[in-house]
Amino acid sequence: MIARKKLLRPSQSSNRLNAPVAVLAVLAILSLGGHAQAKSGQDQFVRQTARAKAILAQMTLDEKVGQLIQVERAALKDPSDVEKYYLGSVFNGAGSGVAGDIKTLPPWSDVTQAIQTRALSTRLHIPLLYGTDSIHGNNNVPGATIFPHNIGLGATHDPAIVRKLERVSAEETLAVGFNWAFAPCVTVPQDYHWGRTYEGYAQDPALVAKLGGAAVEGLQGKNLANGEAVMACVKHFAADGGTEGGHDQGDAKIDEATMRRVHLPGYVSAIQAGAGTIMPSFSSWNGLKVSANKHLMTDILKKDLGFEGFLISDWNAIDQLGGDYKSQAELSLNAGMDMFMITDKYRLFFDNVKALVTEGKVPQSRIDDAVLRILRVKLAMGLMDKGYSVAPNPKLQAKFGSAEHRQIARQAVRESLVLLKNEKKTLPIAKTIARIHICGRGGDDIGMQCGGWTLSWQGQMGPVPGGTSILDAVKKAVSPGTKVTYSKDGTGAEGATLGIVVVGEIPYSEGPGDRTDLALPQEDKDAIANLKKANIPVVVVLLSGRPMILGDALTQSDAFVAAWLPGTEGAGITDVLFGDYKPTGKLTFPWQRTMEQLPLHYDDKKADPLFAYGYGLTYGK
Ligand code: GLC
Repeated sequence: MIARKKLLRPSQSSNRLNAPVAVLAVLAILSLGGHAQAKSGQDQFVRQTARAKAILAQMTLDEKVGQLIQVERAALKDPSDVEKYYLGSVFNGAGSGVAGDIKTLPPWSDVTQAIQTRALSTRLHIPLLYGTDSIHGNNNVPGATIFPHNIGLGATHDPAIVRKLERVSAEETLAVGFNWAFAPCVTVPQDYHWGRTYEGYAQDPALVAKLGGAAVEGLQGKNLANGEAVMACVKHFAADGGTEGGHDQGDAKIDEATMRRVHLPGYVSAIQAGAGTIMPSFSSWNGLKVSANKHLMTDILKKDLGFEGFLISDWNAIDQLGGDYKSQAELSLNAGMDMFMITDKYRLFFDNVKALVTEGKVPQSRIDDAVLRILRVKLAMGLMDKGYSVAPNPKLQAKFGSAEHRQIARQAVRESLVLLKNEKKTLPIAKTIARIHICGRGGDDIGMQCGGWTLSWQGQMGPVPGGTSILDAVKKAVSPGTKVTYSKDGTGAEGATLGIVVVGEIPYSEGPGDRTDLALPQEDKDAIANLKKANIPVVVVLLSGRPMILGDALTQSDAFVAAWLPGTEGAGITDVLFGDYKPTGKLTFPWQRTMEQLPLHYDDKKADPLFAYGYGLTYGK
């Protein structure tokens, strides 16, 4: 998949159970290696079986095979392929549509509506699930509310804010006609070398289960069929965060008991919460690619855990399997994959699968099971009910990027901050301070606040429409008489009362974020040292997707705040720095002293982290 890394991505219920109690019960069973049938929110799909079977009985082989295919919007060779190949889904890859051809809200709605209208023109009028990576808001569309990545949401320990945020994300995702989000990620990152560490809530599987279940409830809402639900897609099944050395798409070399104890609880909880789709991981388990692993996808997930929805492959994931393209499809379909996320080879895939069925290499029953699962999800969402409309919802459009939504994201930012150090009560800062100097690469950079998966696949430094930088937020927070100055490199602070230096990681996603060294860049160390020369109190704010090696940055600071990747609402940071709110965040990943300490496990009593799992200071104690 290295090739993919270099590729420029094509532009690219109310049966809410008392999840925590139910989850703990099932966790107990799982940890004993038991087979826990997650009695769950899956009934909403089972109830659709008769209707789905009636549709299935009318379908031709072509119509069935089409439902198994999800094509990336920009990869469509001809718009009419939507109806010609009876596609089950279209999605936009990260960055797809922002690079030039689609800039604002209305055109996205035009695009999704036009594509859906094509799907509805087919003989059986089966609408698409239109998917997107809304993983911290509808992050692909300019002007959306972008909230903290999961590592920050984990530090809140607050399922209520996670549920509210995912509801915000659902509303802003539906506003443009996307009805499927490839979220939540319930990975349990074991090794911070991994570029996707920030997509994990925590190392404690029980907390991941609690927050992952809440995320599904937020996205899917109280009723899947009321036109305000976005189908969740829980990922990446399973043990994506357990690969040796933290290599992205690597191999998790662990026994089944460990795999079940550490990496399954998020799925158990999400299934109970009613999740309708799950994305198997690119990675391998003991040398076998998950996309070809029947024991994982069929025996454990569909049989043991009672998952009644459908599995969607990752981005061209079957290309990583052995053999030619046709045998890769055969392997993955027979292992239990239901729908396939494909870019340029979707026509070939269509022809290959038809041939596999007529040659008897993939049983008709496997195709029918996959199509039935897909149809049940679409039926449960009301996509085939009278009155279903592909027209975007003006009520939701009015809330896109709204002040109401941004306030919820701002609350999450506040709750996500972890105060690691606060000497001499440096914090909170008085709003009447005479002069405050802001500096560092992240001092005035919303792109750095947001991190990866923002407007593009990798994210980028610089402006993000609708956001508030830390500098902007400071200017709004202080009194009219306060002088606010700024320098990127930390110089020029002489005469200020206090300085805030914002350092950390530049945006990245997936494999490009894999690192062998997590030390702060020299530019950050220099900015801190330059600020220090002014002989004023130094507050360090760290914007990062994982615990970094702090070294002198910690010793040179008077106060130190881990802000993770907070998103567009920088005012959530100043709400705490200036004392409107106390810091409440607690670490959900133990903090390493050195790279040699990695992998660091939260439950390793012999470990000697710099800051332990659960650490976090507040004011006044
Ligand atoms: C990626 C990611 C997955 C994402 C998908 C679609 O490769 O692994 O998390 O949902 O592609 O963009």
